[in-house]
Amino acid sequence: MSDFTGKVALVTGSGGGIGLATAKAFASRGADVALLDFNPALLETALPEVQAFGHRVITIQCDVSKADQVEAAVKKTVDELGRLDILVNNAGITRDNLLLRMDEAEWDAVLTTNLKSVFLFSKAVIRPMGKNRGADGKPCGGCIVNTASVIGLFGNVGQANYGAAKAGVINFTKTFAKEYGRKNIRCNAVAPGFIKTRMTDVLSQEAKDRMTSLIPLSRLGEAEDVAKAIVFLASDDASYITGQTLAVSGGMAF
Ligand SMILES: NC(=O)c1ccc[n+]([C@@H]2O[C@H](COP(=O)([O-])OP(=O)(O)OC[C@H]3O[C@@H](n4cnc5c(N)ncnc54)[C@H](O)[C@@H]3O)[C@@H](O)[C@H]2O)c1
Repeated sequence: MSDFTGKVALVTGSGGGIGLATAKAFASRGADVALLDFNPALLETALPEVQAFGHRVITIQCDVSKADQVEAAVKKTVDELGRLDILVNNAGITRDNLLLRMDEAEWDAVLTTNLKSVFLFSKAVIRPMGKNRGADGKPCGGCIVNTASVIGLFGNVGQANYGAAKAGVINFTKTFAKEYGRKNIRCNAVAPGFIKTRMTDVLSQEAKDRMTSLIPLSRLGEAEDVAKAIVFLASDDASYITGQTLAVSGGMAF
């Protein structure tokens, strides 16, 4: 199992779902963790779950679509935990509607929360990650893992906003990898399929059954399935992998 002792991970949208599972996965492997969400009640319940692993944990209330709050969140992480090695851009929302009915507010909310946030956070961590030094005193960079979606690869009825945002995340991942590989900052993405979280709880049983029929592994994913892939991409086991998008979907294809 990868060891993250001495490393600091900031996970956005870690009040629940995939983000919380990811924060717990890092903490269970020795990392100090910054939990970040715009919902303070979720942060309050998540905190003891992550502290249970015995490493330092801080909480940050932040709207990931606001530049000033993003910069303050990165500063707070470095000030309180000493460094920032891993950023997981995970916060996301859906505002599904058929295109003819989709209004500008639904488009803007999804694009700013799911895509603009990735731009803001990734930009904000470049300098702190560039300052990181390993035990040998040499620059060791850092890494970013973005939570995209299979919808960003395939598109989906009713999700023009979400699919465009997640496709943007996948392309942003490639460009960031090209620009900052020389600073040893790797950037990869996961593309989850259909994962059991609050985001998918709202769907009808019929819709869930239909989705399951498209999944070769014949089950919906767990948040932990995605967390394990994120941890792999952030680990030294993935030290020669950058700019890639790993589908975590049970083999799902549209
Ligand atoms: N569940 C799935 O099937 C699935 C599939 C593909 C991709 N994803 C992606 O995985 C990520 C996590 O989703 P999840 O399924 O765990 O959903 P979730 O709703 O359980 O978690 C999302 C978290 O993001 C937070 N958040 C939302 N807007 C925010 C903002 N502006 N600022 C800060 N925090 C904010 C929420 O409070 C919540 O805690 C999302 O990016 C989502 O698009 C999920």
